[in-house]
Amino acid sequence: IGRKKIIIAIDGPAASGKSTTARKVAGLMGYTYIDTGAMYRSVTLKVIESGMLDEVRRSPEKVEGLVKGISIAFEGDRVLLDGRDVSGEIRDNRVAREVSFISSLKPVRDALLVMQQELGRGRGVVMDGRDIGTVVFPDAELKIFLVADARERAKRRHLELQAKSPEGFGVPDLETLEAEIVERDRADALREHAPLKKHPDAKEIDTSRLNIEEQVAMVHDFAVQMEEGG
Ligand code: DC
Repeated sequence: IGRKKIIIAIDGPAASGKSTTARKVAGLMGYTYIDTGAMYRSVTLKVIESGMLDEVRRSPEKVEGLVKGISIAFEGDRVLLDGRDVSGEIRDNRVAREVSFISSLKPVRDALLVMQQELGRGRGVVMDGRDIGTVVFPDAELKIFLVADARERAKRRHLELQAKSPEGFGVPDLETLEAEIVERDRADALREHAPLKKHPDAKEIDTSRLNIEEQVAMVHDFAVQMEEGG
């Protein structure tokens, strides 16, 4: 007898461990992992590369033409924007700095909402972001809200960046990273459309003092219970 496939929605602030947890839980469940932050980052990259960023800042409705017909696809761990692998570029700081602004725009959210709901239609997905449990899949069987101290999140981001750039070129210091993280959370939580918010039914997990194995095990246990109809 097959278990029913569910949707697992994982939301929370920047660098709270969402993507690592979501990816590992998806692996354990045989589910597809969908990183919606990567989708907002891809749209942001497209706006930057089109040279339209200043124009969109002046007249936000101009973004509509850029998201119309955009293609964002996942292939294993890679993200394809209009067919091109942008997995590395969407992690650049120039994208991180603008993504809160671009993701606050209604035409962008409307377009990605449709794509995300389509990606989860067959269930059997783990989707992470800011508004998955509240807006994209309010009927997700399992909703998780991950939080962690800002300092702890800055440390994790710092280690991640150092690992990518062993000489430390371009790696901001801890204080700068913490300030950027706090600012992004503020912008994401205060925006008008689909702000970062915990769904009342979401299970909140504070990962400040958990390691990855522990947080994966907690989410995985909940998921198995839900699959079994619990
Ligand atoms: O998870 P991340 O850091 O890659 O997300 C980048 C930005 O995208 C984040 O600052 C806010 C936005 N975002 C969003 O508005 N809604 C989502 N579901 C996911 C991300």
